[in-house]
Amino acid sequence: MDLLPVYSLLDIELVKGQGWTVWDADGRAYLDLYGGHAVISIGHSHPHYVEAISRQVAQLGFYSNSVRIRIQEDVARQLGRVSGYDTYRFFMVNSGAEANENAMKLASFATGRKRIVVFDKSFHGRTSLAVAATDNPKIVAPVNATSNVVFCPLNDADALERILREGDVAAVMIEGMQGVAGVRMPTDDFLREVERLCAAYGAMLILDEVQSGSGRSGRYFAHQHAGITPQLITVAKGIGNGFPVGGLLVHPDIAVTDGMLGTTFGGNHLACAAMQAVLDVIERDGLMAHAEHVGNALIARCAELPYVREVRGRGLMIGIELDRPAAGVRTTLFKRHGILTGNASQPATLRVLPPLNVPAHELDRFVDALTDSCTGDHP
Ligand SMILES: Cc1ncc(COP(=O)(O)O)c(C=O)c1O
Repeated sequence: MDLLPVYSLLDIELVKGQGWTVWDADGRAYLDLYGGHAVISIGHSHPHYVEAISRQVAQLGFYSNSVRIRIQEDVARQLGRVSGYDTYRFFMVNSGAEANENAMKLASFATGRKRIVVFDKSFHGRTSLAVAATDNPKIVAPVNATSNVVFCPLNDADALERILREGDVAAVMIEGMQGVAGVRMPTDDFLREVERLCAAYGAMLILDEVQSGSGRSGRYFAHQHAGITPQLITVAKGIGNGFPVGGLLVHPDIAVTDGMLGTTFGGNHLACAAMQAVLDVIERDGLMAHAEHVGNALIARCAELPYVREVRGRGLMIGIELDRPAAGVRTTLFKRHGILTGNASQPATLRVLPPLNVPAHELDRFVDALTDSCTGDHP
C-alpha cells in the first residue's frame, strides 16, 4: 500500500535527535530551528522525558477515562501553577484541532449561541469546525463550510464590534500569535479591546495557544504579555514535546455537565507522563526566561540585516520576512548549512521555532548562515 500523498516533503529522513540537533540516515547532523513545527519544546530525546515515559509505559500505559487517573490531576495542578491559571479546569484531548473544536463547542453550550468570530489568515486545525474557522478555502470541504463562522480583519476592533453587535456570537477565537500566517501579531492593545468587547457583548474569548504557548514567547502563554484573561485557552504541540497531546483550560465559571465532552485517548497515562516531564524541565531549567532572552536577541539582530524586511514575534516564535521568496533561502540553509527552518503561508517569511533550550551560539550560527544564504552565490 502507498502513502496518501498529502504532504510536500523535505528530501531527508531523520533517524535520531538530541537536544536541538537531528541526524539523517546518512549521519549528517542538522540544527533544528523548526522543532517539527513548534512541537519540540524541551529538546529531542530529553533524558528526563525518556525516563518518565519509559517508566510510565512499564507501569500502566493506558486506561480509559472511565476510571480515576491521578496523574491527570497532577498534570492539571502543575500546569495551573506554571501557567498562572491555577483556578481553571483542564480537559485533555489529542491534538490542537480537537482542543479548538471542544473550546468552540463548550462556548456554544455555555452561551446557547451559534456564531464564532475568527480572524483573517487564522489557522485553527483541520477537524470540522476548526477547519471552518481556518482562513484557507483550499482545505475547507463543502461539508465543513458554515455560516456560523465569521471572519474579521486582525487588529480591527471596530470591525469586531460590528460583528458582535449583530448578535448570537458564542465566542471570539484568536491565536496568541498567528503561526501559519508567518508569525503575524495581534497587538497587545487589540487583545485588550477583544477582551473588553467580548465582556460587553457576552461572548467568550478563546485563546488558541497551540503554537504560541508552552513558554515559547517568554511567558507561558503569549496572551499574558497583554495582561488579558480569556475564558478558554487551547494547548497542544509543545506541551507534549512530540507525544500527541491537546488540551483546554476552562474558566471556573463555565458550567459543564457529565458527558458533555469526552474522548477515548485524551489524558491517557503516557500523555500525562510526557506533559509532566515537559513542565518539569520548563520550570527546572528556566526555559521561558531563556526563550525570551535568546529569542528577543535574535529578533533584534535579524531586524538589522539588510535583506530582512520585517521580523515579527516574541521569544522563540519568530517570523523573518525577507526581501525575496523564502523557499530558496530555506533550501540553502538546509542543504549548505544543515539548518532546518519552517515556512509560512506568507511566501517571503521563514519561521524559526526551535526547542526552547537552544543555545545562543547556535542562533549566532543561524544568523551567519542566513547572511550567506541571502548574499552568497549559490546554485
Ligand atoms: C495555532 C494552531 N492551532 C491549531 C493547530 C492544529 O493543531 P493539530 O495539528 O495538532 O491539530 C495548529 C497547527 O499547526 C496551530 O498552529
